[in-house]
Amino acid sequence: MDGRDLVRLAKAVSSVGSAQGLRAVRASWRHRRADAAGLPRRGVERARVPGSVVDATPEPGGGLVRFTRSRLRITVTASGAVFWGWDGAEPEPSYALAGICPEADPRAVLEPDKDDGWRVVSERMTVVVSRHGALEVRTPGGVLLRRELPPRWWEPEGGGEARWAQRSEVAADARFFGLGGRASGPRLRNGTYRLWNTDPGGSFGRHDDPLSLTMPVQMVVADAGTHLVFHDNTWDGTVALREGCEGEGSGHDCAGTSEVRMDGGPLRSWVVVGAPARVLSVWTRLTGAPAVPPGWALGHQHARWGFGSEQEVRRVVAGYKERDLPLDAVHLDIDHFAARQAFTVDRERFPSLPRLAEDLRGEGVRLVSIVDPAVKAQRGNALYDGGRAIDAFVRDAANRPVRGVVWPGESVFPDFTAERVRKWWGGLYEERLAQGFSGFWHDMNEPVSFAAFGEPTLPRSARHAVEGRGGDHREAHNVYGLCMARAGYEGLRELQPQERPFLFSRSGWVGLQRYGGTWSGDVATGWEGLRSSLSLVLGLGLCGVPYSGPDVGGFDGEPSPELFLRWFQLGAHMPLFRTHSALRAGRREPWTFGAEVLDHARVVLRERRRLHPYLMTLAHLARRTGAPYVRPLWWGAPEDRALRDCEDAFLLGDCLLVAPVLDRGVKRRAVQLPPGRWYDTVTGAVFDGPGQVAVDAPLSRIPVLARGGAVLPVRDRDGGVVLEAWAPAPGRTGGGHVARDVGDGWEEPRIDRFRVRWNEGRVVVEWDGEDGDVEPSYPVRVRGL
Ligand code: GLC
Repeated sequence: MDGRDLVRLAKAVSSVGSAQGLRAVRASWRHRRADAAGLPRRGVERARVPGSVVDATPEPGGGLVRFTRSRLRITVTASGAVFWGWDGAEPEPSYALAGICPEADPRAVLEPDKDDGWRVVSERMTVVVSRHGALEVRTPGGVLLRRELPPRWWEPEGGGEARWAQRSEVAADARFFGLGGRASGPRLRNGTYRLWNTDPGGSFGRHDDPLSLTMPVQMVVADAGTHLVFHDNTWDGTVALREGCEGEGSGHDCAGTSEVRMDGGPLRSWVVVGAPARVLSVWTRLTGAPAVPPGWALGHQHARWGFGSEQEVRRVVAGYKERDLPLDAVHLDIDHFAARQAFTVDRERFPSLPRLAEDLRGEGVRLVSIVDPAVKAQRGNALYDGGRAIDAFVRDAANRPVRGVVWPGESVFPDFTAERVRKWWGGLYEERLAQGFSGFWHDMNEPVSFAAFGEPTLPRSARHAVEGRGGDHREAHNVYGLCMARAGYEGLRELQPQERPFLFSRSGWVGLQRYGGTWSGDVATGWEGLRSSLSLVLGLGLCGVPYSGPDVGGFDGEPSPELFLRWFQLGAHMPLFRTHSALRAGRREPWTFGAEVLDHARVVLRERRRLHPYLMTLAHLARRTGAPYVRPLWWGAPEDRALRDCEDAFLLGDCLLVAPVLDRGVKRRAVQLPPGRWYDTVTGAVFDGPGQVAVDAPLSRIPVLARGGAVLPVRDRDGGVVLEAWAPAPGRTGGGHVARDVGDGWEEPRIDRFRVRWNEGRVVVEWDGEDGDVEPSYPVRVRGL
C-alpha cells in the first residue's frame, strides 16, 4: 500500500461508511490475489519494429504492404474513412463500429512511392508508407497532416499480449481535442492522458484524469486541415500529447507529437480528414448515429441523491410549479431503492411510485431512474438469483464469481459483453417501466468496485465473454459501460417499441451515442468545475457523443448563489440540462439561493423552453450528420488560430454563440467572434467578426449571440413554433433548419430549410422546398433590424 492507497482508504471509509470500508479492504485483497494468480506474468520482453518493406499487394480500397517483421493493411472505405492495421489487424471485430464495416472504395489505388515506399491514393487523402513503416497522411494537394513513425512492439518471450507504442507528429500549429470526456480541456495541453475509464472517487477537479468516459479518439486541428484519428483498441493505455512550437525568430518549428501506448490489443487505426462537419459526419456513420432523446429530455431536469421520500419529490415539484419555473423531469437516485439494489423500490418511503409517476406526468414532469450494474450477492435477492440462474456474473480465472463492493454491499457484476446477459438485463427494465419511469441514468459502470487500495474496479484477470471470443477485464473494462448501455437500450426498444428510449450513462466508449448520452459525473463544486463542465461537453461532442451535460451547481458542497446561477446559465445551453447533487451536499432548487437568483433562473428556464424546437432540430441534425449541438467556436473556421485557442465560449448549433461567465465577479467579458455578423440576442447590439469584442454579462444573463442570417425555430408563448430570423449583414444571405415535430416515436421528421435574404430593403424568409412538398406555415419574426 502506498500513500495514494492510504488516502483512498481514508476516502473510502469516509464516503461509504466503516462497514463498507472494511468490505472494500477485503475486496482489494481479493482482487490483488486474483490478479496475482490469474494474470499472465510478463517476464522478459522482446522489442520489435516492422523492419524493411518486402513487397505489396493491391486489394480493394488499398492493399497489403509486407515488412520483414510485420504487415500493414490499408483500406480506404467508401465513406472516406481510412483504416490501417498492423500484424493482421482487421476492422472487425470492433465494439466501436456501428455493425457493418464500411465497404472499400474501389477507386483508391496502391502505387509504388519513392525510396521503395508505397502509397495509397484516394479522393480525400493519400497515405504514404515508407520502407521502414512510417506512415504519412497527406491531403490530395500533398500537404502533410500527420506522420506516424514506425510502431514498436514489446512481446513477452513466452508468448501473450504484445504492448505497443505509436508515435506521431503533427504540425507545429496543431491543437488536440477529444480523448472522450476530459476535465482539463477542451484544448488538450501537454500531458499524458490515460485510456482507462475511472471513477475518480468523490468529486473531481480540473486536473483529475482519467474520468469515466475515455476514448482513443483525437481530433487534430491545424492550419493545414482537420483530422480525426481513432486507435481502435479497448485496452488500458496512455496518450502523451505535446503541442508543437513555432520558432519565432529562429525559423525552426517543432512538430506537435502524440504518442499512444497500449498494454495489449490490436494496433489499428481509422483516420478521417476534412472540415470538422465532414469529419463528424463520416465518424458517426462509422461508429453509429446519435440517438435522438425524447422531447422532454431536452427540457429542464432536476435530480438529487437523497430526496428520500415521495413527499419530498412532490414538494420539490410543487416548488417549481408555485414559482412558475418550468420543469420536465425528476431523477430518483439510489435512495429510492430497497437496500440500494437496482430494480427495487423502498416501499416505505416510496409506497406508490406508479401513482407518483402518473401524477407528475399529469403536470408534464417525467420520472427518471438511476440504474447501477452491481448486484448484491445475497440469496433471496431476486436479481442475484435471476442472474445466477443464467450464469450472468463475471468470474475470475479460477471460475469463481468475482465479488466486489458497491452501494448494495458485497456485489457481483453482470458480464454485459455476453449477448444473453444483455438480453436478461434489458428485460429487467420492464419493472422500471411498470413503476412509471420514462428514462434511465446508468451509473457506477466503469465499472466501480470500491477499493481500499489498488484500482477501484474489477480485477484485470476477471473473465469476460467478449461476444463469445473470450477475454479478460484488461480488454473488457473500457467497454463495460458501453455494453450496459446497449443492454438497456435494446431492452427498452423491445419493451416499449413505440417510444425512443432515454438513457444516459456515466461510463462508455466509442459508439455510446448509438444508445444514448452521458453526463459529467461528480464534478466538484467550484469555478473550476464550471470550466470542466464545458470542457467535457465539447470534447465528448467531438468524439461523436453529442448529448451530455454537467451536474449543474456541482456535485458536492454548496455553490455560492453567483456560481449556481452562472452554472445554471451555462447548463441551460447544453443538451442535458440537469441540476444534481450528492447526499450531503446543499440544495440545488433555484429558490434556495435567494430572490435575485430565483428571478434570473426563471428567465433561464423560460428561455430553455423557448429554444426547445431549436434543440429538437439540433438533436435530429446530430442523428443525421453527427454534428454535436455544442461545438467549439472553430467549427466553421478551423483555420482561425484565435478561435482554435478559445476555450471559454461555444456554438450552440449553427445559429447561436454562447459566452458563459466562468469566473467570479465578471460582469462584462471578451468574446472571440467567428467571421460574420453577430447580434446580442438581448440588447440587439451588432458585432462584426472575426475578432474580439467586449460584451455585457450582468448577473441576469450570459451573452448569447445570434448569427446574422440565422433562422431558428422557437416556441411561442402559446406553444406554437415561430421562426426567428436574424437580419443578414447588408448584401449577405443566410438560412437555417427546422425539424418538424413528430413526437417521441420513431417517425423521421422532415427537416425543412429556410433561406434568408434582403429584398428591396426588407428581410425575407423563404422555404427551400421542392415541388410537390407541403410547405409548413410558421409565423416569422425578423430581428436585428
Ligand atoms: C455516483 C454518481 C452520482 C450519484 C451517486 C449515488 O457518485 O455519479 O451522480 O448521485 O453515485 O448514486
